[in-house]
Amino acid sequence: MRILGIETSCDETGIALYDTQHGLLADALYSQVEVHAQYGGVVPELASRDHIRKTLPLIDQVLAAANCTKTALDGVAYTAGPGLVGALMVGATLGRSLARGLGIPSLGVHHMEGHLLAPMLDTDPPAYPFVALLVSGGHSQLVRVDGLGVYALLGESLDDAAGEAFDKTAKLLGLPYPGGPEVAKLAEQGDPQRFTFPRPMIKQPGLDLSFSGLKTHTLTTVRQCVAETGLTEQDKADIAYAFERAVVETLVIKCRRALQQEGLHTLVMAGGVSANLSLRESLATKLEPDGVDVHYPPLRFCTDNGAMIAYAGALRLLAGERDGAQADVRARWPMTELSPPEGAYA
Ligand code: KG4
Ligand code: ZN
Repeated sequence: MRILGIETSCDETGIALYDTQHGLLADALYSQVEVHAQYGGVVPELASRDHIRKTLPLIDQVLAAANCTKTALDGVAYTAGPGLVGALMVGATLGRSLARGLGIPSLGVHHMEGHLLAPMLDTDPPAYPFVALLVSGGHSQLVRVDGLGVYALLGESLDDAAGEAFDKTAKLLGLPYPGGPEVAKLAEQGDPQRFTFPRPMIKQPGLDLSFSGLKTHTLTTVRQCVAETGLTEQDKADIAYAFERAVVETLVIKCRRALQQEGLHTLVMAGGVSANLSLRESLATKLEPDGVDVHYPPLRFCTDNGAMIAYAGALRLLAGERDGAQADVRARWPMTELSPPEGAYA
């Protein structure tokens, strides 16, 4: 089965072609970062308009790269939520129209399920059951995964998502949008001895997360530096380092706790923040000695992309799931509302 995947939930247009026998045939990504950078964050209306401009040319590009025509497609998967409604509607409308025109099925895919399954695109995919750490711009969740669509929420952020915390810290430090990679880059120059930031919610039992206190601590430290000498480049790097360390260590502690609680030995991390090299390295070095198998997606599939949507859609389309007449997009959509494909209508 050859499935075209369309991702337009936020500020990236991602298109991919996945073959259930031969794997990923081609993929392309267009980032709107330059469109939004001058505003310091994503402007939803501009995002929708840019998806309209880019989606069809990218589909043609991916099909050409795979040496494939539209008539060779067996299904179309598009991101149906959660995300920006206008942006989602572009991918959903184009995806469903294309499928209807070709007489093939379409399916709306959950964006976070796409992220969750992205590590399966690697050469050594994880086996169920596992604990997933989903850390993106809009979500920070620990989820027990027993199979496709069998998800139990173990804990989540009570306020800012991990990626959002990175982005807000970047703003405080005067770094450009999107902030996560910028904070990570600056942290490499930071002095590990200078500041120690609090590790939020590690003393409380349970698996929920909270990053707003850390944000306040970062703000206070920035203000202190400004008052003392003005915020120097070294101050910024030291703060970036302390912030990143606090987030990483908190996530490592919570992941360890989740694995112990569930009696599992496989951890899968996914979502934009899983591109953070310090987090990838710390999870591996801290958990692997205890016998934990740590998986993360290939770097280019950590942040939003079409391959994860094509892959998640392919699994469900292959199992017979299809869009019904009422298919719609959803700004909010808890992942725990998903079910395994057996419950699907044909
Ligand atoms: O999954 P994603 O591409 O989009 C959403 O679904 O939200 O995640 C984007 C988030 C942004 O907040 C971005 O700053 C963060 O992931 N991010 C990073 C890194 N790369 C992306 N955060 C920390 N370190 C990184 N290297
Ligand atoms: Zn995402």
